[in-house]
Amino acid sequence: MKRLVVGLSGSSGVIFGVRLLEVLKGIPEVETHLVLSKGAEVTLGLETDRTPDSVRALADVVHDHGNLAASISSGSFRVMGMAVVPCSMKSLAQIAISLNDNLLARAADVTLKERRKLVLVPRETPLHLGHLRHMTAVTEMGGIILPPVPSFYHEPKTIMDIVDQTVGKVLDQFEIAHSLFKRWGGNDA
Ligand SMILES: Cc1cc2nc3c(=O)[nH]c(=O)nc-3n(C[C@H](O)[C@H](O)[C@H](O)COP(=O)(O)O)c2cc1C
Repeated sequence: MKRLVVGLSGSSGVIFGVRLLEVLKGIPEVETHLVLSKGAEVTLGLETDRTPDSVRALADVVHDHGNLAASISSGSFRVMGMAVVPCSMKSLAQIAISLNDNLLARAADVTLKERRKLVLVPRETPLHLGHLRHMTAVTEMGGIILPPVPSFYHEPKTIMDIVDQTVGKVLDQFEIAHSLFKRWGGNDA
């Protein structure tokens, strides 16, 4: 059993995180540990017809955003990594400077200090220099910045085609097999 920490924060595009959890629910080999920020609860209400509880139900284990004593707050709890999808500029900033006053930021900090894979899907536009510097800092610490940028050679027809492409790119980072998009050159390799 592999464990993956999934953080949903309060930027627009919470559907990316919801879809990631939906896909992971169909992969029994991966145990998901979810931490949902208050901001994500707000965007869930504004951008989707999902309730926070229905999203929590997609995860194997749910942790309270304020619970700094949760298992995922410690590096001794073994996980393969963490994905923050979507990642707000506030959560990005907190992660960049180890401002660990909530579980999402703390779990991300632990992921970096343990040299595990941290994937952030930031959503903001345009970006000011501070945002870019925080992304640079996270990259310098070993994190991966994976913006939700669609590719059009996939010829997406629906919004969910676009969402699935980014979710598939996140899963690729953790080498979790999926068929969410058609790969250039074929899906066999
Ligand atoms: C509808 C809505 C959309 C938002 N979109 C973004 C966004 O795209 N990017 C961003 O960085 N913050 C966005 N925010 C602001 C964040 O929710 C806010 O900064 C919050 O404090 C983030 O906290 P969190 O990272 O703990 O969830 C949005 C807020 C709302 C209500």
